[in-house]
Amino acid sequence: MVEDEVDQGRFQVSRHVFSDPELFELELTHIFEGTWIFIGLESQIPNPHDFVTLHMGRRPVLLMRNGDGRIAAFYNTCRHRGAVLAPDQQGNKRVHVCRYHAWAYDSTGRNVNVANEQHGQLPPCFAQQDRDLVPIARIGSYRGFIFGSLNPDVPPLQEHLGQACKFLDLVADQSPQGVEYVPGNVTYTYEGNWKLQVENGLDFYHFASTHASYMDVMQHRTKAGTAEPGRTYEPDGVQECAGSWGLGNGHAMMYAIRKQGRVHIRPLASDPSAMQEIRSRVSEDDARWMLRQRNLTIFPNLQIVDISAQQLRTWRPLAPGRTEMVSHCLAPVGEGDAARALRIRNYEDFFNPTGLGASDDNLMYEFVQAGYEASGAGPLLGYLRGLGPPLVEADPHAHELGLVPETWAWGPVSFGDETCFHGVYRQWLQLLQRGEQRRAAAGTSEVPA
Ligand code: FES
Ligand code: FE
Repeated sequence: MVEDEVDQGRFQVSRHVFSDPELFELELTHIFEGTWIFIGLESQIPNPHDFVTLHMGRRPVLLMRNGDGRIAAFYNTCRHRGAVLAPDQQGNKRVHVCRYHAWAYDSTGRNVNVANEQHGQLPPCFAQQDRDLVPIARIGSYRGFIFGSLNPDVPPLQEHLGQACKFLDLVADQSPQGVEYVPGNVTYTYEGNWKLQVENGLDFYHFASTHASYMDVMQHRTKAGTAEPGRTYEPDGVQECAGSWGLGNGHAMMYAIRKQGRVHIRPLASDPSAMQEIRSRVSEDDARWMLRQRNLTIFPNLQIVDISAQQLRTWRPLAPGRTEMVSHCLAPVGEGDAARALRIRNYEDFFNPTGLGASDDNLMYEFVQAGYEASGAGPLLGYLRGLGPPLVEADPHAHELGLVPETWAWGPVSFGDETCFHGVYRQWLQLLQRGEQRRAAAGTSEVPA
């Protein structure tokens, strides 16, 4: 499936990786239901009894904050006959009452009422039976980003996130109160494999060709005098470039350093007092990196793109060729009105599915998925940019953030590195192999709970 021979100048992935139904089942079991995945922001449920619902792989999940402020996640299924307990996307409830026969659960997951229990002629052991909601195996939070795992056999969250923590810090530190979603999200599906989104979020190579119409619109706006003027955020002497870092465990970062933000001004930089406050809390290097383009992927289901606005994307595989995407505009808590308005306009302009960028990408995913059907055409050669001799001997920027990346590549802004995908597919393969070994050791086709 993955031929990883970078010393020979080869890194090939089979087309079946994106279309095979059996592999897809293994991905659900060993990745989306087998390791840490992103499940939400703490700021989505700020108050006692707030809740949101989601899916982890195929499993419906209820994430909620109890009356003491503690966050927990449960399988979203009634213990009576299994109905989904909380069908709404979000809300605030001290008590969740099942629609079917009205069993009730409090926000700690405890079953607090069995409707008409006294006339139920229930067996004597019923009183001792555990009727509470079943918690997921692991939940953890880093800087307000909540992750969960349905499999207990996973490393501690911070170990799993590893060097990606630095990039969550660069998002969370943009306000003393962290980040929040701008209200509203867009959920949509595309007819393509989930890994196409993973790839695209790390892919600078496609920009000029896939988003040619966006570039045309920008040029038109510039000619018409309706475009924002570019701004300079970099000190003199900084070389324009683009690069990537493989951060371990499938996580990766693609970045660009430009002397001038060519099209959009950065909402964060549009508020000098906010930047001054940030500089009082973080290092000068960190403050500068907050204004550089950073495309972060946290394997398998989280991307944060920070440029003209911040977009947080998360996704759920529905079929080998069908994926549900959720796109949010992310923002520092307490951001000023003018910066927030600019952020929303910039987000709508490019990132929102109705905008000029996301629609291009979604179309490409569907072209690519259709092309995968050409199974006689051999493996994919698309992961070779950056495998040749590097332009520089040492990574020129990793030290600014204290990183020791697993892979790195660096070049001009037009570089379009593809080595950042290698760690993604190595992690993908490792999780599937480990999961299958565990299953074989247990001597069953079922994965141990
Ligand atoms: Fe929930 Fe019966 S299924 S009360
Ligand atoms: Fe794109």
